[in-house]
This record gives sequence, structure tokens and C-alpha cells, in this order.
Amino acid sequence: MAQQKATNVTWQDGEISREDRYNILRQRGVTVWFTGLSGSGKSTIAVALEHALYKIGKLTYRLDGDNVRLGINKNLGFSEEDRKENIRRIGEVAKLFGDAGVISLSSFISPYKGDRDEVRELHEKAGLDFIEVFVDCSLAVAEERDPKGLYKKARAGEIKNFTGIDDPYEAPVGAEIHLKTDEMTIEQEVETILEHLHKNGFILQPQLTRTEDIAKSASL
Ligand code: ADX
Repeated sequence: MAQQKATNVTWQDGEISREDRYNILRQRGVTVWFTGLSGSGKSTIAVALEHALYKIGKLTYRLDGDNVRLGINKNLGFSEEDRKENIRRIGEVAKLFGDAGVISLSSFISPYKGDRDEVRELHEKAGLDFIEVFVDCSLAVAEERDPKGLYKKARAGEIKNFTGIDDPYEAPVGAEIHLKTDEMTIEQEVETILEHLHKNGFILQPQLTRTEDIAKSASL
């Protein structure tokens, strides 16, 4: 866990609570954390899930390894230390989104179990939910897909410390959701996550405000 450097700083609450924000959005903020090898399907599933949630009027935001590394984390590479800092920062960003009421869809290889557990702990300490989704795909299949041609480069020695080739990937043990992307369709994967979100109360029903709607629902 990173050390607190600044002293004499305290968290300040406003007048609008997290629950107030959840109520406006009719959803509870939550972090859906996709972990898996490069090419396993993390970003593809996040994009499809984002679309499905949009269609039912739910606010999401995708945090994606490649995108984030072009911005807030542009000063980080792929050493163990940099990957750790990459995940820590995104964990904090996802936590803020969750507090705001947004369903964040975070796709990062996040190869180290300890780093993912720290993000989970950050959320738990803040009273926020963290759903770990193991995007499970064999190295052989990921390498065969090779959507960005990076495995080929890594095998040729043109990229060092490439996850799965000359860098480790520690698979999750107790992930809330386990998707075997070499056996399931995208639709099945999205459905599995949607079901989890519904069952666990993250998607709230629209609030009835107009008198006739209330009367209708009470069958008056
Ligand atoms: S993580 O390990 O720190 O979680 P992250 O998900 O942000 O990784 O970034 C992974 C993406 O960076 C990959 O999808 C790939 O496009 C690119 N990449 C470039 N170099 C490497 C590398 N050495 N290992 C893994 N991914 C790399």
C-alpha cells in the first residue's frame, strides 16, 4: 500500500451523500474489475457490457489499460513496480467513480494478485463494492488471437516483460465472476455480469415521481 506523504490533510464531506447520488442515478456505484491476459477479451466484454447497460439507462465509465496509459499513467511502464502503481492509481480512480455512483468497468491485465487485493481492500474500507471478473483464456488462444500483434513481437524478443511470455500472470482464486472466453459467447458473458449486477442490487428500478405513475403502480 502506498505511503501517505502529505500531513495535516483530512477527508471533507459535503452536504450531498453517496446515497443521494445513487438515488439520482437509480443505481449503486460499483467497480467491475476485469483481469486477464492481453487478448483475453477484457476490453471487448467491457465495451459490450457498457452498451447493454446504456440501453437500460445505466451510467458507466470504462477505464481501460491502454487508454489510461496514454493519460494519467503515461509515466508508467511494465516493470513490477510500475504495474503496481498503475493498478493502485486506477483503483483510486475507480473508487471515486463508485462514490459518484458510476458503474466503472476497469480492464487491466493486473497480473499480480496482491495488487488486485489491495484495490479490493481500498474499496471495502470505503464501503464500496468490488466485483472481480476473471477473463479466463488460455495463453495459446490469446496468442492465436493476438489482436495487436504484440505476442508475435514478444516472442521475437522485441517486447520485454510481456505478460504470459516473460512476465507472470497470477490467476484470481476467489473472483466473483469467472468467464471462460474460449468457451462462452460475448452475449453469454455480458448476460452473466448483468445478472450479477441485478441480483446484487446495483441496478435500481426507476423512481416514480409523477402522481399518475404512482397511482398506476398502486393500481388505483
Ligand atoms: S497492467 O499489467 O499494468 O495491468 P495494462 O492492462 O495497464 O497492464 O496494459 C496492458 C496493455 O499494454 C496490453 O493490452 C498491451 O496492449 C500493452 N503492453 C505493452 N507492453 C506490454 C507488456 N510488456 N506486458 C503487457 N502488456 C503490454
